[in-house]
Amino acid sequence: MEKFIVHGPCRLNGEVTISGAKNAAVAILPATLLVKGKCHLENVPDISDIRAYVKILESLGSNIEYISKNELIIDNSNVNSAIASSELTSKFRASYYLLGSLLGRFDKVQISLPGGCNLGARPIDQHIKAFERLGATVEVRNGNVYASRTTSLKGAPVFLDVVSVGATMNAILAATLAEGTTVIENVAKEPHIVDLANFLNSMGAQIKGAGTDTIKITGVKELHQVSSYSIIPDQIETGTFMVAAAVTRGDVLIKNCIPKHMEPITAKLLEAGATVKEYEDSIRVSMDKKPNSFTVKTSPYPGFPTDMQPQICILLTVASGTGMIVENIWESRFQYTDELAKMGADISAHGTTAIVKGVDKLYSAPVHSHDLRAGAAMIIAGLVAEGNTEVYDIHHILRGYEDITAKFANLGANIEYVKNEEN
Ligand code: EPZ
Repeated sequence: MEKFIVHGPCRLNGEVTISGAKNAAVAILPATLLVKGKCHLENVPDISDIRAYVKILESLGSNIEYISKNELIIDNSNVNSAIASSELTSKFRASYYLLGSLLGRFDKVQISLPGGCNLGARPIDQHIKAFERLGATVEVRNGNVYASRTTSLKGAPVFLDVVSVGATMNAILAATLAEGTTVIENVAKEPHIVDLANFLNSMGAQIKGAGTDTIKITGVKELHQVSSYSIIPDQIETGTFMVAAAVTRGDVLIKNCIPKHMEPITAKLLEAGATVKEYEDSIRVSMDKKPNSFTVKTSPYPGFPTDMQPQICILLTVASGTGMIVENIWESRFQYTDELAKMGADISAHGTTAIVKGVDKLYSAPVHSHDLRAGAAMIIAGLVAEGNTEVYDIHHILRGYEDITAKFANLGANIEYVKNEEN
């Protein structure tokens, strides 16, 4: 089984450059299906979720040319299928964006129910509701989602019962080429929603209000190809390095990020006692003492992101006093706390709340990555711990962090990648 060995403890020092945002890229790649032409994308993260999406698009007939590992030209002129292979789509969550984008172009679409991180129940009822409001028929059977329309989709009011990133993105994708006006209310406001809207608008879509509670889309007949679009920097990768810098009592300049997107994380690091300096497109985080404890409650943007919850927990594990985490988005996002207990952390997690009592030190242990962000937290814990921490199930981590060992190595960490421990 492949693994990382994190040699701790270590104080991070230096500069790191953030990659393009995974959760923007996994919506923008399928969004290119809405145009029968070429899209030139820059700052695309080189991660396994993107490589999987490239394979899916190619299986539908896209021609994809890599200019470099982070820059690609997608030509969807010859896409002729709207049935995506279940082997490819069942592996990760964001494959559901194929529904909204392919419905804009084809009468009948089929994908398998999306997989992804195990964070508890992950329903797609709000996605389905949005498609149905626009006139599509959607059926879920035998592990597949079948969506169809007899005429063009028709713009309509859509009210989302829960604030959902995926449903907001899918409603935008489906409404872009619909006839008439769609007004989507109670939408998610995450930076990746705004990035998807900006990308579609750069191809001639008419989407207003992304980043607010209400998005208005005036359907257009067709989109035109885009000569160059650069994906925003990854908010969660940035936050991961911010926390890692603070908890290792390091000093790190994090480049190519958007400080405004980081405000909820910056606020918690300041409460913990870190120094955070913001520049135009970089942030410097340093810390030279034991962190103070604090309370963190996850909520949709601009609240504290659930995808930073496991990482910020590492600060609390070694803080003075007792801190608390309240998880308001996913029902099973505390599984990783059992792994941290193996390293000496004192955490009691029940339902939506975890109480974290700070300890003096963490110690190395073999630990598992329950999901992508939990895996990143295991690496940070390994950087803090005494000894060599073996992190297993690292395929989760590789889904969302580009060059993670090299980026940490540039900051002075020693994280070995072991391909197969039998060898
Ligand atoms: C996105 O998932 C992200 N994934 C997740 O990041 C992230 O944790 C999540 O948003 C919240 O920020 C991608 O962007 C690919 P949601 P998504 O729909 O869109 C409920 C990572 O580590 N809900 O905003 O699937 C749902 O159960 C991943 O990068 C419904 O009830 O999340 C949850 O409680 C992990 N019905 C809440 O809404 C629906 O139809 C928010 O989920 C849809 C969602």
